[in-house]
Amino acid sequence: MRFHVNIDHVATVRNARGTDYPDPIALALACEQAGAHGITAHLREDRRHIHDEDIVRLRAAVTTALNLEMAATPEMLAIAERIRPNVITLVPERREERTTEGGLDVLAARASIEAAAELCKRTGIKLSLFIAPELEQVEASRAFGAEQIELHTGEYCHLTGEERRHELSRLAVAARRAAALGLEVAAGHGLTQGNLPDVVAIPQVSELNVGHAVIADALVVGITEAVRGFLRAIELGKSRRN
Ligand code: PXP
Repeated sequence: MRFHVNIDHVATVRNARGTDYPDPIALALACEQAGAHGITAHLREDRRHIHDEDIVRLRAAVTTALNLEMAATPEMLAIAERIRPNVITLVPERREERTTEGGLDVLAARASIEAAAELCKRTGIKLSLFIAPELEQVEASRAFGAEQIELHTGEYCHLTGEERRHELSRLAVAARRAAALGLEVAAGHGLTQGNLPDVVAIPQVSELNVGHAVIADALVVGITEAVRGFLRAIELGKSRRN
């Protein structure tokens, strides 16, 4: 089970004052030292948090795995080709959204996904697609050349009671189908130490990408303790697997 920390919020705080601190790269290295297995950063088209230079510096500094989240545009594909992250995760992007809302519509984005898949095959980058837990999206991801899907857990995190249990079972069904097709299964969005163990209990899930809650916890306990807390929550989830 891999735990990746999304460090976008560190850049958001830095940019609020136009200073060079806090430095997302320094936080990334602290996350790695605390036991994170990878660093995730989203280079948005409007560059509202992570900047191009951050990605260059992250590539030079990160020794675990660098996961670059991006829209499937020619500009971003060219950047990925130059930077060579270990993984690219394609996400839908709308300028007016606060954070990534909804999964990628893989069927509608076929041409750009296949262009990304071709680049990834040529360069050895892993291609991951951020999708809702829907079987047709899982199957299209496989058909269009992805190696991994990242299941959108945002709905699960927002719901409560029976609705949450229902969404969790949709995640489990999608994860099972993906694994049967030979896809690796990641999950992310809205996860906290409290709500992630039930997601980790889905046996096919092998990676989590978490941002907001890690940085929020770090404000209280520091980044090292925040990462360790998430790693403990993952162990709790693993103990619920059957
Ligand atoms: N995974 C993807 C694909 C995302 O776009 C985001 C948000 O940037 C995350 C994971 C992390 O979500 P959160 O910040 O809610 O943990």
